[in-house]
Amino acid sequence: MLSDHTLRVYPDPVLREETKVIESFDESFDTFVDELKNFMIEYDGVGLAAPQIGESLKVAVIFYEEKFYVLVNPVIKYKEGEQRDQEGCLSFPGIFEDVTRPYRVIVEARDGKGVPYTVEAEGFLARAMCHEIDHLNGRLMIDHLSPMKREMIKKKLSKMRREDNDS
Ligand code: NI
Repeated sequence: MLSDHTLRVYPDPVLREETKVIESFDESFDTFVDELKNFMIEYDGVGLAAPQIGESLKVAVIFYEEKFYVLVNPVIKYKEGEQRDQEGCLSFPGIFEDVTRPYRVIVEARDGKGVPYTVEAEGFLARAMCHEIDHLNGRLMIDHLSPMKREMIKKKLSKMRREDNDS
């Protein structure tokens, strides 16, 4: 069951907002994290950040190799190497583009209960973490592309919106 939150698609301004640091790990935060997970599952994503369902909060979730990662107030402490591969985002439906990311990262975060942890990730997981942490800083997949590509994607999405409105 989904609440009154809705999936936000580019160019929804909430995707660019500064997110708030999480300070209280109470029951309502718990509920929100569950909701974020449910949205991710519902829309079949590998990761989802709070702004993508309309909340400017520093929390994102990732599901990778049967494990849920809850990233609260995450910070990339170290990055190494480079990888280039196709990336998608639930806020850019139908768009897949090659994006260059670090190959390996060390991320410090808190879990859903507020307990600090460190995770070393490489390959796909490192990519997913960089993508979600970008969201929490108002940064999006298209910011990593050339200005020309970016314009093409904007046009494609606005055409899709017009077609949705016409039907
Ligand atoms: Ni995304």
